[in-house]
Amino acid sequence: MKRLDNRIAVVTGGTRGIGRAISLALAESGAKVFALYARSRKSAEALEKEASEKGLSITTFRGDLTHEVSFNQLAGVIHEACDHIDILVHSAASGVHRKAMELSDKQLKWTFEINFFAVHRLTLELIGKMSRGSRIIGITSPGGTHVIPSYAAVGSTKGAMESLFRHYAFELAPQGIMVNLVCPGLVMTDAAKALPELDRLLQMTQEYTPSGKLTSPEDVAEVVRFLASDAGAQIVGQTIVIDGGKALLA
Ligand SMILES: NC(=O)c1ccc[n+]([C@@H]2O[C@H](COP(=O)([O-])OP(=O)(O)OC[C@H]3O[C@@H](n4cnc5c(N)ncnc54)[C@H](OP(=O)(O)O)[C@@H]3O)[C@@H](O)[C@H]2O)c1
Repeated sequence: MKRLDNRIAVVTGGTRGIGRAISLALAESGAKVFALYARSRKSAEALEKEASEKGLSITTFRGDLTHEVSFNQLAGVIHEACDHIDILVHSAASGVHRKAMELSDKQLKWTFEINFFAVHRLTLELIGKMSRGSRIIGITSPGGTHVIPSYAAVGSTKGAMESLFRHYAFELAPQGIMVNLVCPGLVMTDAAKALPELDRLLQMTQEYTPSGKLTSPEDVAEVVRFLASDAGAQIVGQTIVIDGGKALLA
């Protein structure tokens, strides 16, 4: 296990789905984790309960990253709780599922607000607390570079995020802050269950994944834990695909 003792981690979207598995994995390696969420208090309470039963340090903070007042309150709470931050994981995401030709300006802006602008706003807010040896890790999607039906809005935000993270990586590596992305294949979270044409996507994923196994939240969390550890010190500006080999197929 990669030890993260005494490291402080902030995980957006850290109470559900992939983010939840990341919060647990980092905490299991000894990190003190602050898991952020927007609405689902029940999920946050369940995570805190599980953490306390396992003797892990996970504290949840609620706040909508797209809402100015809520963002500022949340930022204040994080600043008070953390004298520094070693690991910042951007897992929170949402979005409108529509074909590109049915997507309104408003829907696209809303999706960019959470998946792109909130990511940058939070990074700028917290970067002053990060120093040499820190990590910023984003979660992108195969939809950032390829077509997933009705994924035009979220896919566009992920493509933009990948570009932004290349710049983060280039600008921050000289300060010893290493920035990378992970790119999971289909993971059966609540977000995935809301995808249009899920049955078809699931069937294709199962059929065309060479490993023969669907990617789990824990598969993704293990790679994030690796990147966050000392083993990730020389990995800069990469996107690590975690999909059992599905992306190998044309
Ligand atoms: N699942 C997949 O197949 C898959 C594949 C590739 C990439 N990804 C990426 O992996 C990441 C995690 O996805 P997931 O499937 O685990 O999603 P999920 O289960 O839907 O969880 C999303 C998290 O984001 C939080 N969130 C949503 N809107 C927010 C807002 N306005 N402010 C603050 N927090 C907000 C949610 O908090 P509340 O629940 O409290 O609202 C929740 O904790 C995302 O970046 C996603 O794009 C997922």
